[in-house]
Amino acid sequence: MADLIIHNIGQLVTCASTGKPKRGAMMQDVGIITDAAVAISEGLIEAVGTTDEILGSFDAAKKIDAKGRAVIPGFVDPHTHIVFAGDRLNEFELKIKGADYLEILAAGGGIISTVKNTREASLEQLVEESRKRLDKMLACGTTVCEIKTGYGLDLETELKMLRVIEELDKTHPIDIVPTFLAAHAVPPEFKGNTDGYVDLICEEMLPKAWEWFVASHFSTSKIPFYADVFCERNAFDLIQAERVLTTAKEIGFKLRSHVDQFTNLGGSRLSIELNAASIDHLDAISDEEIEILAQSETIGIVIPTENFSAGKTQFANARRLIDSGCALALSTDYNPGSAPCPSMPMAMAISCRYQKLLPAEALNAATINAAFSIGLGETHGSIEEGKTANLLMLDAVDYRLTMYEFGSQNINAMFIRGKRYEDL
Ligand code: NIG
Ligand code: FE
Repeated sequence: MADLIIHNIGQLVTCASTGKPKRGAMMQDVGIITDAAVAISEGLIEAVGTTDEILGSFDAAKKIDAKGRAVIPGFVDPHTHIVFAGDRLNEFELKIKGADYLEILAAGGGIISTVKNTREASLEQLVEESRKRLDKMLACGTTVCEIKTGYGLDLETELKMLRVIEELDKTHPIDIVPTFLAAHAVPPEFKGNTDGYVDLICEEMLPKAWEWFVASHFSTSKIPFYADVFCERNAFDLIQAERVLTTAKEIGFKLRSHVDQFTNLGGSRLSIELNAASIDHLDAISDEEIEILAQSETIGIVIPTENFSAGKTQFANARRLIDSGCALALSTDYNPGSAPCPSMPMAMAISCRYQKLLPAEALNAATINAAFSIGLGETHGSIEEGKTANLLMLDAVDYRLTMYEFGSQNINAMFIRGKRYEDL
């Protein structure tokens, strides 16, 4: 006896994988079952098959007729910065008038202006502001996400951000994976002394963040903890990035990194050599590094919302990444500066148009591969027996409407851990 059966699903898009992220041509396969049904028990998917098969072998306390609609996995957003205070509306206007992102940062604006607001904000205020952002992500179909620190840049505020992330995870339906990004920018008190700040990160901040993690409910729930670094001009150079990542790895962190967003400093190669779970942005990655990535277990995350937000016409070469055999994921990068966007459907819509991803590739990149990139590939990101029952029932019979139509939501109902969101 299952808790719930959803039947008469015209198109069940499973995104089922072989226990690994999808790469190369496999990314075109989204594992569609037509006239399908899903049986769910205790928040997990008990069985997947045709409506005849499932209704023939299972009964359920509750049955929902999908009336021929498409059902897809809940989206997984593997790169966000949603814990922050304030906004960057003035910067938005400066950029419209032609100002450059890295110049704004060098002049003490950009990330640093958000750091000032975030340092001043109380934990409660940050929880409330960030919860609203999670609500917007959920409304767009995101059921799991990663969240980074990186607007504290001192021990006290970075730890405050970690506590905010934990509180959000305990109280919001979206499941969260935490990332420690003290190496996001050089704080004003270390201006001109980046190495001094890297010392502080390596000697004090990373060990203290790890202590927090060990005592946190993430550790108890076997959720991994990542360290990240922004390897870029006016941020951290290759040697500094290597110090941060190797120190973090020795402590026990898993790794991910911001690399090749504007400038190729060699961060991709470094991160792959250190066995990072993901390398993110990749606009300036070289062809040689793409080949190295394709041979590795590291997942490439591209962020077309960042390019769109900046009004750029150049995007990371996601087509080449896939065609070279890399495992690719998509994210929103939801943050107040470079990508104020909560919507994975928007990221997919842009990637189809400007990066020439097929809808199937975009969906795999936004679900199963995104889940693998944050260490949850075995439990999330696809509709397979034994996995967490995070499903979106679309207001459409064909999942490709999600990428085709943009700026709208086509979600009829959301199921999180087997429960209709409205009933949670
Ligand atoms: O991924 N590049 C660095 N970090 C973020 C932007 C954060 C911000 O501007 O506040 C990014 O684009
Ligand atoms: Fe980012």
